[in-house]
Amino acid sequence: MPSLDFLAEVHRLLEPECYLEIGVRAGHSLALARCRAVGIDPRYAVEAELRCDVQLFRTTSDDYFSSAEPLAPTGGRPFDLCHLNGLHLFEYVLRDLINAERCSSPRGVIVVSDVLPRSVDEAARAKHTDIWTGDAYQLLAVLRTYRPDLTVLPIATEPAGMLLLAGLDPANPTLADRYDQIVSEFRAGDPQPVPADVIDRFDALPAARVLGSGLWQLLRSAGPEAGPDRVRELLAGTVVRELGRSFVPS
Ligand SMILES: C[S@@+](CC[C@H](N)C(=O)[O-])C[C@H]1O[C@@H](n2cnc3c(N)ncnc32)[C@H](O)[C@@H]1O
Repeated sequence: MPSLDFLAEVHRLLEPECYLEIGVRAGHSLALARCRAVGIDPRYAVEAELRCDVQLFRTTSDDYFSSAEPLAPTGGRPFDLCHLNGLHLFEYVLRDLINAERCSSPRGVIVVSDVLPRSVDEAARAKHTDIWTGDAYQLLAVLRTYRPDLTVLPIATEPAGMLLLAGLDPANPTLADRYDQIVSEFRAGDPQPVPADVIDRFDALPAARVLGSGLWQLLRSAGPEAGPDRVRELLAGTVVRELGRSFVPS
């Protein structure tokens, strides 16, 4: 399934009220939103017809989140869906994830684009292929090591895969506190040491299986007062039963 089709279904199934997109470019993915939205990109040139109540910011995601009130455009409401599709370098994606989770609802979802390179060339930090993931694939190993509390689902979309994160904890400081340590541990020079499992998509879930699961109903029905622990408790049973034990928090 193409990544854009998967994201369209996520919008339809989750019915987010507030959507964040980092990396807008031509607006093709932003055009899927039907809710209040915030789009961030230093060089956007929107061609797609947008059908949401959107505020666009012509700046980098780091600059946007260094502002005192990143939730000002939503009137303080946290995001229920974030799509991270900005600069595909590991340390940038990691910062985008830290900032997006901080501004998310515990019953929200973060989708990270282009995390499953099909070759070492696509994963190069120095871009030299049309389809480019950079070293964002490292996020998988980072989250397994440092955030075993999160539900992390690698999705086999085309061309370059996505990562879906649920069971978010906006107050969890682990990634921010260990940022320097994580970057020095995981950032590698080219050619990238991409694990064969990643290139073979050994652990990746078929998109249709995730879309057809009970995850969406469960997240939609979690009340706004549900905290991270409650959402995780709800997620655990459904994810184990329908997607596999290896994807649930340990
Ligand atoms: C893969 S494209 C996004 C495609 C877009 N989602 C679409 O559907 O048309 C990546 C975008 O990230 C933007 N970008 C690069 N560095 C960024 C940064 N530091 N913060 C936010 N966006 C960035 C680029 O300008 C580019 O438009």
